[in-house]
Amino acid sequence: MSVPVAIIVAVADNGVIGRDNQLIWRLRSDLQRFKSLTLGRPMVMGRKTYQSIGKPLPGRETIVVTRDPTFNTEGVLTAPSLPSALALAQERAKAMGADSVPVVGGGEIYRQAMPEADLIRLTRVHCAPEGDTLFPDPDPAHFVETGRESHPAGPHDEFSFTFIDYSRRPATKGHV
Ligand SMILES: NC(=O)c1ccc[n+]([C@@H]2O[C@H](COP(=O)([O-])OP(=O)(O)OC[C@H]3O[C@@H](n4cnc5c(N)ncnc54)[C@H](OP(=O)(O)O)[C@@H]3O)[C@@H](O)[C@H]2O)c1
Repeated sequence: MSVPVAIIVAVADNGVIGRDNQLIWRLRSDLQRFKSLTLGRPMVMGRKTYQSIGKPLPGRETIVVTRDPTFNTEGVLTAPSLPSALALAQERAKAMGADSVPVVGGGEIYRQAMPEADLIRLTRVHCAPEGDTLFPDPDPAHFVETGRESHPAGPHDEFSFTFIDYSRRPATKGHV
């Protein structure tokens, strides 16, 4: 049995997820959700997202996907392709007793991981900024919405936001 692959993403109303290799909003409530969805698990991320975070996050494992064989940073595992990253993450998740393999971006990695995703934990951020990296709306033919919670902006949030959970429909694995 494989451990479910969960895409974790925060997306503006216009589909934007990033600009100039940075996040574009300040949203402490979403950082807390990100933490609760990734702690104790092996996260998979692209090299650019890793560099925008700048360090391994405590309490979880980081697997960086890169074609650069010389990329070597203390405290992170690396993989030369997405399939090899997901295979390594499966092994690590089983060893750690983790309930999911979080895929945490960015745009290139989400695009390639979408056909493998079992779950999408999406935060819809209610703003429409300019950006250079996008995330598509989950296709309702392949993903069913299983939960939705709307929140006003808290004291440390720039915008209001909605947490939306999706599960892959049976027999649609391999489809975006
Ligand atoms: N809103 C959110 O939830 C969220 C989450 C994460 C990131 N982001 C944003 O997304 C943006 C970054 O996304 P991005 O698309 O530019 O970059 P990315 O997906 O983070 O990383 C791209 C890099 O991953 C490696 N890679 C990709 N596909 C590969 C493959 N098949 N095999 C081996 N290596 C592969 C390459 O690294 P090498 O060049 O080293 O080979 C590539 O340059 C930033 O703006 C960031 O803030 C947003």
